[in-house]
Amino acid sequence: MKFSLATKPITEDNAQCLIIPLLSGKQLSGAASLADKASKGAITAAIKAGDISTSRGKTLLLRSLKGLASERVLLVGCGKADELDATRFVAILNTAGKALKSIGCSAASCYLTELDVKNCDTSWNISQAVQSFSSTSYQFNELKSGKKKPVKLKKITLSTTASGAERKSLKGIIDTHAAIASGVELARNLGNRPGNICTPTYLAEQAKQLATELPIKVTVLTEAQMAKLKMDSLLSVGRGSREPSKLISMEYKGGVKGAKPVVLVGKGVTFDAGGISLKPAGGMEEMKYDMCGAASVFGTLQAAAAAKLPINLVGIIPTVENMPDGLANKPGDVVTSMSGTTIEIINTDAEGRLILADALTYAERFKPELVIDIATLTGACIVALGGHLTALLGNDQPLIDELLLAGERSHDRAWQLPLLEEYQQQIKSNTADIANVGGRAAGTVTAACFLSRFAEDYRWAHLDIAGTAWKSGSDKNATGRPVPLLMQFLINRSQSK
Ligand code: BES
Ligand code: MN
Ligand code: ZN
Repeated sequence: MKFSLATKPITEDNAQCLIIPLLSGKQLSGAASLADKASKGAITAAIKAGDISTSRGKTLLLRSLKGLASERVLLVGCGKADELDATRFVAILNTAGKALKSIGCSAASCYLTELDVKNCDTSWNISQAVQSFSSTSYQFNELKSGKKKPVKLKKITLSTTASGAERKSLKGIIDTHAAIASGVELARNLGNRPGNICTPTYLAEQAKQLATELPIKVTVLTEAQMAKLKMDSLLSVGRGSREPSKLISMEYKGGVKGAKPVVLVGKGVTFDAGGISLKPAGGMEEMKYDMCGAASVFGTLQAAAAAKLPINLVGIIPTVENMPDGLANKPGDVVTSMSGTTIEIINTDAEGRLILADALTYAERFKPELVIDIATLTGACIVALGGHLTALLGNDQPLIDELLLAGERSHDRAWQLPLLEEYQQQIKSNTADIANVGGRAAGTVTAACFLSRFAEDYRWAHLDIAGTAWKSGSDKNATGRPVPLLMQFLINRSQSK
């Protein structure tokens, strides 16, 4: 999708559809007031007749208004001006985006970005509009056989009252966020592809493909190469499947030569049946999404390289399929990780941490500035935070604070959970150094405790995206989160240096 700043006055704007905000109050303001005057009161009349309310979430489509060059006007209720905060503004954008999708036009002009949002600036409004229109227009229909393709939104102009230097900087914001949006789209496409297509081998091919399009160096380790490195924790999971496991590394060097990289590690379980600790059948199809951490690493690398961020960035993806084949891990088995730590596998369904353990040890080779892992790690995370916020834990509070801040700014938010010493005792084992599960209590925390044993040599944070990586049910769909959070984090870092 193409985004640009609006250049014409609203009356001359000949986009297929104008998206105009209606704030509650006695008088119309901004774009609504201008369009109302030009159309000799058509908007006021629609409100008076009760066709549209100014409350948040209401929309009305009007056609062929006099005095306007555009064919259609989509009115969007925005509620009271003084109640308009970040969350509500994003919800309004999403409402407009969805309404636009059902209208089926390919180009629109958005005046919502002129709104005054509490504690937010123009560049934030613009960046959220880019993210929102990109994501609401997203469709995953590559596996539908039908020939009829619905009209796709291709072009959006965003209106702003800014001028001069500010306007120029907004163009840069648009480009950066368009890059982030295509990173989100990549992550969603990979996440949505089913387990019989998106296998570890497929992900490795996708990484090689990315390397042909952007300045990214890709290496893929085979099982034999991982065996030489003694990654038996990772390999033990893949032994339960006929699909060969892989370890993918992607390096983007946009920063100063020799500067330590930020390393992202993404869980890439392309299907999680649970292994011998088999999952129940209901909803198991959603376990194709268990590689969304890996997908977010793909998306972030693509976006960072496309936006030419001046940073060094490495993506590491341990990728396996967790199945109950004859050689699969059995409860009670003990494996030795690459770090030498022995692990008693109490539950073969706690496989994510087993593959991340070796990937975190492997990350040391890149002499990281810091490491962030991203994983659909625990069902307990959904119990704790639902689908709105990502869980965040780690061993370095300043790093966690940076991530929380990036989450706020990108509106792809995280919430810190306590990674305290007290919880470590839950993963004690009387047979091995540690156990791979810590009981029902605080499941997200004890999973992070497990990971922390393999992340002792660097600053590290862990994002549990079990609740945020995809939406469940009949509308099941990958979200592409936390690509926006990660990109904002990288942008903030590259600007503070
Ligand atoms: N991939 C799952 C976690 C998950 C479950 C994410 C449902 C999103 C929705 C993970 O591998 C898993 O199975 N975790 C177990 C851990 C348990 C055995 C300690 C879980 O959460 O039940
Ligand atoms: Mn599992
Ligand atoms: Zn899993």
